[in-house]
Amino acid sequence: MSKSKTPNKFFKNLGDYTAILLISFLPHLSIFNKIKASVMRSRGALIGKRTKLLSGIWIDDFSFLEINDDVSIAKDVILVATGGIKIGHRSMVGYGSKILSTNHIIPPGKESLRFPGLEYKKVTIGNDVWIGAGVIILPGITVGDGAIIGAGSVVTKSVNPYAIVAGVPAKTIRMRN
Ligand SMILES: CC(C)(COP(=O)(O)OP(=O)(O)OC[C@H]1O[C@@H](n2cnc3c(N)ncnc32)[C@H](O)[C@@H]1OP(=O)(O)O)[C@@H](O)C(=O)NCCC(=O)NCCS
Repeated sequence: MSKSKTPNKFFKNLGDYTAILLISFLPHLSIFNKIKASVMRSRGALIGKRTKLLSGIWIDDFSFLEINDDVSIAKDVILVATGGIKIGHRSMVGYGSKILSTNHIIPPGKESLRFPGLEYKKVTIGNDVWIGAGVIILPGITVGDGAIIGAGSVVTKSVNPYAIVAGVPAKTIRMRN
């Protein structure tokens, strides 16, 4: 790494961590939601209007995060957005859920997993989606508009619009009608 890039990276990381601390600790009163949204925008995220952000939210890389209008994100949600995360209008992310957009590259044979790096796969959550509490959504997943993800599910495959899925791995239990 060149010397000239080190301070930039240091200040970017410092800025991001300061933003995470603010977002994580401030309560979700309307005024604080506005402050949190502004802080996230200042770090490079696209944040819509009237977002409701509870405390304890952790975001890894604001630059590839898009959250649209009227989205609600509950307490202790983790968004690993390095590979890109888009959350559509009016969608809700339940308590303690994790949306992950990176995998560690699995090298051939029994080489160490520590150094081959990451692969990036964007996660796209549609409009009007309800993600229950404690859900894990894996890299590359698309969740269609109006879908519901049951509490505790691990979503390993993309979810059709208006499907209700649940379980580990998540399977369709019925369609909304
Ligand atoms: C998925 C959910 C919305 C219910 O949908 P539903 O269509 O009413 O489902 P039902 O309760 O009729 O259950 C249908 C089947 O799915 C199973 N099921 C329901 N929710 C499940 C879940 N989260 N994980 C695994 N299986 C689940 C039921 O056991 C039932 O199985 P069976 O047919 O073998 O008996 C609800 O169970 C759920 O997970 N809600 C999330 C609650 C939450 O996270 N709240 C926090 C607010 S953000």
